[in-house]
Amino acid sequence: MSPPPLSDKFKELNDLKEKARLGGGAEAIEKQHKGGKLTARERLEKLLDPGSFAEVDQLVVHRCHDFDMDKKRVLGDAVVTGYGTINGRPVFVYSQDFTFVGGSLSEMHAKKIAKIQDMAMKAGAPCIGLNDSGGARIQEGIHSLAGYGEIFYRNVMASAVIPQIIAIMGPCAGGAVYSPALADFIFMVRKTSYMFITGPKVVKAAIGEDVTFEALGGADAHAKLSGVAHFAVDSDEECLKQIRNLMSYLPSNNMDDAPIMESADPPDRMEEELNEVVPVDPKKPYDVHDVINHIFDKGSFYEAQAQFAPNAVVGLARLNGRSVGVIANQPMVYAGCLDIDSSDKIARFVRTCDAFNLPLVTFVDVPGYLPGTKQEHGGVIRHGAKVIYAYSEASVPKLTVIMRKAYGGGYIAMCSRHLGADVVFAWPTAEIAVMGPEGAVEIIHRNELMKAKTPEEVKEITNKLVADYRNKFANPYIASQMGYVDSVISPKETRPMLIKALESFVSKRDLQPRAPKRHGNIPV
Ligand code: HXC
Repeated sequence: MSPPPLSDKFKELNDLKEKARLGGGAEAIEKQHKGGKLTARERLEKLLDPGSFAEVDQLVVHRCHDFDMDKKRVLGDAVVTGYGTINGRPVFVYSQDFTFVGGSLSEMHAKKIAKIQDMAMKAGAPCIGLNDSGGARIQEGIHSLAGYGEIFYRNVMASAVIPQIIAIMGPCAGGAVYSPALADFIFMVRKTSYMFITGPKVVKAAIGEDVTFEALGGADAHAKLSGVAHFAVDSDEECLKQIRNLMSYLPSNNMDDAPIMESADPPDRMEEELNEVVPVDPKKPYDVHDVINHIFDKGSFYEAQAQFAPNAVVGLARLNGRSVGVIANQPMVYAGCLDIDSSDKIARFVRTCDAFNLPLVTFVDVPGYLPGTKQEHGGVIRHGAKVIYAYSEASVPKLTVIMRKAYGGGYIAMCSRHLGADVVFAWPTAEIAVMGPEGAVEIIHRNELMKAKTPEEVKEITNKLVADYRNKFANPYIASQMGYVDSVISPKETRPMLIKALESFVSKRDLQPRAPKRHGNIPV
């Protein structure tokens, strides 16, 4: 018998590919669309440059026989994996396919993801996961758990080597949450995604609490309250667009530099308005976004964790086309105090930037750490220490602008000269001191104040002493005399001064010898 013609073989391949493309079938795809979600493949099409996707392991199937699973097989096994480009730069991707067994993770599904993680590491390219899964495939038991373990291990090995970005675009429950939690950035889509360790039913059974999916683990819950999500968006399309945008700020790996963008914004742009942002009255708040938006390349500030711990602001931006990490105290919330959540937010962001060669630009207006039993018993000491640790450890260029209050531990922690800042600027409104004038006067002039006979007299003496203290210490000039501040500048010159500093330190080498160690021991 003569062999089948070559055309039959091509047809067989085409049929297989066509079958694989259908995932869980037309009905399940329709259900996915009705639920306001794109399919795994549609998501990849929108994430990657047109025509750039190359699929890997399209023909993989699971090998489970229990619970009649041998009758339930789909090519690809509920995850689409491969590589492609974003703005011409290679990325490795996986996209879980909810249309087949709820995108649940089997042994083979996990192997596909682990292979992509390995490929991304070898290639030195970012790994992007689009998660939409009912979690461990229940029929496979330990095999699927083992699969999760393999993925988590690779998440850790890849940490701070290649950027890892995960978007939650459907369910993500139980132990499955830990792969995203180990990534650098998490996106969540409102209304269609949720993350939790135990869902509403178990919560009800265990502690009798009634809670909805959205309230327990929806995008806003994690963007505002837990700080797990860095970005909450309204739709799949918006999510994929934002991942592409985020990628434009990041290098491909820890040995690489972020791409430099063409900037139409003049590097010598002076901003008169900046001179007006900080109020003369040190007790009056202002929005630090007004500072950030005036200084960085127009429209380039991309804020992360915007709703979580809003007393600190963090995000990526560009200065004359170069990517930087921006960290700022926000005087509009808790007067810009550091607390547990803002310390975690700042420390994690500083470490992410340092891992990926993104210089740090820090704006300081901090009256100190937030007082109270809630903070103390919640471990503000341990959490606050992370900020000091992260800034001290960071070896990228570190530029600091002290805008107003820089008091006590807050002054030191917010990238002071003492933690290795390369250039420290202060505005004339800066107040660098151990504590605020009112508190200082109460302590150092206690005896004098006790001698006052009437409350009016106390007030009068206090006002005078506060004014004296403010004149003497609450300014940038003592710190300048000591060289802790390199230059007192007017706010309007901040952009050009930061650009000059950044471009001078762009090839910074960390000359401080570091003792050999397995790893640092940041207080967690
Ligand atoms: C096997 C699953 C599955 C799973 C969903 N499916 N999750 N199959 N293993 N984990 C199947 C469903 O049986 C159904 O199959 C199809 O996927 C679509 O699911 P629906 O329930 O119809 O969809 P929906 O109503 O949208 O509900 C989605 C869901 C629900 C909320 C995710 O399916 C659900 O509660 N699944 C179980 C979630 C769970 O408990 N997972 C284990 C978590 S523990 P048919 O054939 O009917 O279409 C875990 C441990 C990881 O993951 C540990 C790592 C360390």
